[in-house]
Amino acid sequence: MYIYGASGHGKVIAEIAEESGAVITGFIDLDINKNEVLNYEVIHTIPTQKIEVIIAIGNNAVRKKLVNENDNFEYDKLIHPRANVSKRTTIGEGSVVMAGVSINADVVIGNHCIINTNASVDHDCKINNFVHISPNVALAGNVEIGEGAHIGIGTCVIQGIKIGKWCTIGAGTVVIKDVPDGVTLVGNPGRIIK
Ligand SMILES: CC(C)(COP(=O)(O)OP(=O)(O)OC[C@H]1O[C@@H](n2cnc3c(N)ncnc32)[C@H](O)[C@@H]1OP(=O)(O)O)[C@@H](O)C(=O)NCCC(=O)NCCS
Repeated sequence: MYIYGASGHGKVIAEIAEESGAVITGFIDLDINKNEVLNYEVIHTIPTQKIEVIIAIGNNAVRKKLVNENDNFEYDKLIHPRANVSKRTTIGEGSVVMAGVSINADVVIGNHCIINTNASVDHDCKINNFVHISPNVALAGNVEIGEGAHIGIGTCVIQGIKIGKWCTIGAGTVVIKDVPDGVTLVGNPGRIIK
């Protein structure tokens, strides 16, 4: 597989691929100054034939744009062997689950999501496409996260909360009420700042 994005996030994803036994062909990155990552070659043009890709870009909108623009890309998912994922969880294509993550029963995770290091996703949560759950986030049961939302590092969300599409939740936020689409929320308790 190719890893799209020769960044720090790409390195983490490359190591998950290695630990999962996937074969990495190389990285794709349009930045011509990036030529090698973790001893893998970086190519600067996007192949036109069908290729298997994981998009290793943390920005949710950019990840969505790349998916829409490249219909020759095919996607699997990557789950770190030391993540604890319920057998009753559904995880969509292009999504990545990092080391130390716990995902409990009947969780549904969409396509091209990032469930970052040590995040905890409790029973019956629904995480829509292109969401990024940062490291050490804790989602209680029955939480729903709308498409493209970024949940900042260390955020806590109490049970049953709905977070809208394309929201940004700041680092360390405590979310105790539903959050409308497109806002930025920070603090304890979470308050809307944008
Ligand atoms: C929420 C966030 C996106 C806001 O960034 P921004 O739009 O540049 O906002 P600013 O830094 O201008 O801050 C605006 C105000 O919100 C406050 N604020 C920003 N982030 C905050 C946070 N996480 N908790 C509490 N207050 C916060 C600032 O202190 C500032 O307050 P003021 O107006 O009283 O001075 C950013 O601070 C953040 O928390 N990002 C999360 C990063 C992350 O989790 N990365 C992990 C990647 S894996």
